[in-house]
This record gives sequence, C-alpha cells and structure tokens, in this order.
Amino acid sequence: MRIVLLFILLISLFADDSFITRYEYAKMLYENPRGIGCQHCHGVKGEGSIIAKYKDKKGVKYLKAPDIRDVDYKRFYKKLNSRKIKSAMPSYFLTRSEIKTLYYYIKMINSEDKR
Ligand code: HEC
Repeated sequence: MRIVLLFILLISLFADDSFITRYEYAKMLYENPRGIGCQHCHGVKGEGSIIAKYKDKKGVKYLKAPDIRDVDYKRFYKKLNSRKIKSAMPSYFLTRSEIKTLYYYIKMINSEDKR
C-alpha cells in the first residue's frame, strides 16, 4: 500500500513539472502570438512605445503603440479581432481563449510590481 501511495505521489510531482503554468503560457503567447510579438510595439509590460519617428511639413511626428495596461476587456477583444487594414498594428488570428490569456497576462505582469 505504501509503495502504491509513493508511486502516485511521484507521478503527480512529475506531472506538475511537465506542464507549463498559465503564466508561462500567457507570456509565450504575448511574445509569440503567431505573428510579431506584442512586446515589440507595446513594450514588455504593455506600457506602450514609440515605434517610429518621422518628419512631415509640420515637423517631427511619432508613431506610437499605445499603453494597453488599462484597456478594458471589451475594447481589448475588439481590437485583437479587428481586421482593419489601415492600422499600424498587424491583424492576428487568435482564439477567444488566447485573447483572454493575453489580457490576463498584461494584468498579471503589471500587478506583480504594483506600479
Ligand atoms: C507593429 C506594432 C504592433 C504590434 C506588434 C502590436 N500592436 Fe497593438 N497597437 C499598435 C498600434 C500602432 C496601435 C494604435 C493604433 C490602432 O489602434 O490601430 C495598437 C493598438 C492596440 C490596442 C488598442 C488600444 C486602445 O487603447 O484601444 C490593443 C488592445 C493592442 N494594440 C494590443 C496588442 C496585442 C495584445 C498585441 C500582440 C498580440 C499587439 N497589440 C501587437 C501596434 C502594434
């Protein structure tokens, strides 16, 4: 009986090791969402960044990827599901659950350091 219990314990420990956590999965998705990673434009934590700087007749202009840390879920979902060609942001083909995971990731990573 004791051996059986030990065996079950070992299996469960091993099983825990072989699965990545939800957080690790979310990080992978943020950095590699079947397309260019979000961090390249929105920054590692979704804080936003300047993608490009250019000049026109009126002077120097910046192309910015906005801060996405406080975007509500509805807006987030809509944006990730949009197929608008005119945006500087690429279109992604993510599932509902993947979009949820990305949203969760940005919340998680920002609550860790309580900005
Ligand atoms: C090539 C740069 C680029 C990449 C990569 C990118 N974005 Fe964006 N994103 C933008 C720009 C520029 C905007 C603002 C213009 C717009 O809304 O189309 C934007 C807008 C958004 C918005 C809307 C913000 C608001 O206030 O309404 C969300 C949400 C968003 N991005 C999330 C993501 C996520 C999640 C990823 C990764 C799957 C990602 N973006 C990848 C450039 C990028």
